[in-house]
Amino acid sequence: MKAMVLDRFGGPEVLYLADIERPRASPGHVVVQVVLAGVNPADWKVREGWLAPYFQCQFPFVPGFDAAGIIAEAGESVEGLKPGDRVVTPGNQGVGERGSYAEYMRAAAERVIPLPDHVSFRQAATLPTAGMTAWEATLDNGKAGEGARVVVNGGAGGCGSFAIQIAKMAGARVAATCSAPNTDYVRALGAEHAIDYRKGKVAAAIRHWAPDGVDLVVDTVGQGTLIDVLPAMKRGGVICPIGTLIPDEPRIDTAAAQAAGVTVIPTISTFAHQPRQLRALVDALATGKIVAPATTLLPLAEAGEAHRRVQQGHVQGKILLEI
Ligand SMILES: NC(=O)c1ccc[n+]([C@@H]2O[C@H](COP(=O)([O-])OP(=O)(O)OC[C@H]3O[C@@H](n4cnc5c(N)ncnc54)[C@H](OP(=O)(O)O)[C@@H]3O)[C@@H](O)[C@H]2O)c1
Repeated sequence: MKAMVLDRFGGPEVLYLADIERPRASPGHVVVQVVLAGVNPADWKVREGWLAPYFQCQFPFVPGFDAAGIIAEAGESVEGLKPGDRVVTPGNQGVGERGSYAEYMRAAAERVIPLPDHVSFRQAATLPTAGMTAWEATLDNGKAGEGARVVVNGGAGGCGSFAIQIAKMAGARVAATCSAPNTDYVRALGAEHAIDYRKGKVAAAIRHWAPDGVDLVVDTVGQGTLIDVLPAMKRGGVICPIGTLIPDEPRIDTAAAQAAGVTVIPTISTFAHQPRQLRALVDALATGKIVAPATTLLPLAEAGEAHRRVQQGHVQGKILLEI
């Protein structure tokens, strides 16, 4: 099969198109024929070797967590999934197996969710990593609820596009940070207030929007961009910084947060929660409670270009690779 692979860690140029052996189904696993692969910041971090402490990459390695496609083969003891079914999955790359930048990918059946007919592959491929992580931050950890004031730092990216909508779905009022060209985009997703972070004074703008304080901050950007947000928080508020893996990035002082009555819950996507979250995201998409983020399609062979764009940190919504 065709796949974008790397033989060593490095820049985008280490990715190349190769013919490699097609994966086979195994007990509890299916093989998905990938139609669209989602690109995430984690993919360039994998490519540069940042995730080497978490799982071993066997070269030639195929990056890519997210896939929407069709079941090609179902292994022993797989129930409720059969060849021909349209599905979405975060695959097995998170446990070090080959990923979704390929014609076929193996995936554990419990993390493979069937798609209703009217949910397109293009919508579905945006969901796994960004959607599940936003769900983890906004609902599982952040407990956004009716009337809560929620700030999404980085509202125009993959995680941010979902976090805004998930908070709105829970009945919260949402403000989001973004650059000026993305203000209409985050408003269309449900943010009642867009804060242009390039103008500076973001914490002051948040205080102005929520004079009684903010209940939840979902921080998808990190890098110390909201290090001064504590005075804008309610006592009892929660800050969920999504794990960027950026070494030595400035972080909120947890002692100061504690003194302000604010809980900081570092958030990563949790394997055990993924099937429930992905099923809920598919349902929300199918019933129109959320929409897919903006998408840009690139051919599989341009995965290196996709990485360059994602690495610059200003993609609106998601980039998807067409297999
Ligand atoms: N550990 C985990 O389980 C996990 C899972 C998912 C994601 N993550 C991490 O979470 C982070 C976000 O992921 P993602 O997929 O959402 O990334 P992304 O889609 O690449 O985010 C890009 C967005 O960030 C916005 N942005 C950049 N600088 C900003 C700033 N200073 N203030 C506000 N917005 C800013 C950009 O908006 P503008 O163009 O308007 O600036 C752009 O739309 C990444 O570091 C990723 O690795 C971790």
